Amino acid sequence: MNRLLAEAEQRRLQGKPLLDLTHSSFHRAGIRCSDQLLADALQDYVRRREYRPDSHGDVDARRAICRFYAEDALDLPIERIFITASTSESYSVLFSALAGPGAKVLLPSPTYPLFEQLVEFGGLRPVYYHLLPERGWQPDPEEIEQALQRTPAALVLISPNNPTGAVLSEEVLRRLSRAAAEADVPVISDEVFSHFLRGAPNSGNAPRIARFAQEAGARICTLNGLSKICAAPDLKVAWFGCSGPWRESDLERLELVNDTYLNASGPSQHTVAALLGDHATRRKIVQQVENLRNVLDRWAERVNRDPAVPLLVHPTRGGIHFVVESACRRTGEWAELPADRGGASGFTNSPPLGAGSSAGRFDDEEAALELLRETGVLVHPGYFYGMEDQIRTYWVGTLIALGTAGTQALGLVEAFSREVLQ
Ligand SMILES: Cc1ncc(COP(=O)(O)O)c(C=O)c1O
Repeated sequence: MNRLLAEAEQRRLQGKPLLDLTHSSFHRAGIRCSDQLLADALQDYVRRREYRPDSHGDVDARRAICRFYAEDALDLPIERIFITASTSESYSVLFSALAGPGAKVLLPSPTYPLFEQLVEFGGLRPVYYHLLPERGWQPDPEEIEQALQRTPAALVLISPNNPTGAVLSEEVLRRLSRAAAEADVPVISDEVFSHFLRGAPNSGNAPRIARFAQEAGARICTLNGLSKICAAPDLKVAWFGCSGPWRESDLERLELVNDTYLNASGPSQHTVAALLGDHATRRKIVQQVENLRNVLDRWAERVNRDPAVPLLVHPTRGGIHFVVESACRRTGEWAELPADRGGASGFTNSPPLGAGSSAGRFDDEEAALELLRETGVLVHPGYFYGMEDQIRTYWVGTLIALGTAGTQALGLVEAFSREVLQ
């Protein structure tokens, strides 16, 4: 285990205070689907219990998933939906079905380490396109277009993104759908955070690339599940849906791979219609996350204006993670950030990091370790996500954790940065 996480675990075991800013446990933060609806659906399952294996997943659950997309004006036919036990499993099924050993998969960088592991465990090779901090963590579509020419087995898009919180625009999605169609590369569109968008629940959902599948002639696979939308990761139900001109042979192969495991349980699948149909609770869940985004925003507004705090909180457009640029480097001297720091993300009042600070005293992990020892607050160093460049280092936390460790933890991070990093 990494030494930061080992030390955090040690604190937990010793009963020392630990303010974990990295956890994403909806339940710990009091965010959950309706207990009553869940209990009713499970009781109903017991009454009607009958094992009905289906390589695509339970038909009633799939009908509910079709309705879920229809509400967002996306037509995903029931025979193009596959139910799995998790989004992670959806990736594995897709990789097994669509990519031969050693094939390349195009992933965003930085990225949640889960995806690299899934690619590697599938015997595939990750190759990366970059999310650019100076453009608010947007990719350069041209870079992706060029990478598509080198015929990867799939292009993975994650929007809203983990951990950067960036959301891909309709314009970029349309452009990428055309490029993927031209290169004949399927797109895996991870939309598990699509409802957690700045301004939600009144702002609508994040744009979906599947909307452009037909007009572009692109093969798009849309991934989602109950784990985030319904704050029910313990139910272990997720799905993917195929839009656009998929070959029959591809669909048959997906069916075969999914049929080999059939991991999504009958009881859990039986809850899908009730939970997805419970719009009031889904809105409440989204609102609860948005309230936590507002907590972060209020903190960011103060910290980003205060030259005595060598931190820069990046704005999140969506998702449940946040990124803080910290005035510490993994190697070498401090460097002033370029004038366009934050770029499209709109930071104008923030102080240049590192100015006048004690050069190279910490790297991001050292600083996170020191933060943990001094204050009991746990953040992830950015390098966990591959967030390293020549001049910047990062810490990552989750909005969900603000529901528990909350403002107290942010206050401690701020005080630590003021006193120790400066
Ligand atoms: C972007 C993204 N996709 C997928 C997953 C995994 O989701 P699931 O719990 O459905 O496996 C995560 C986990 O946090 C994630 O951040």
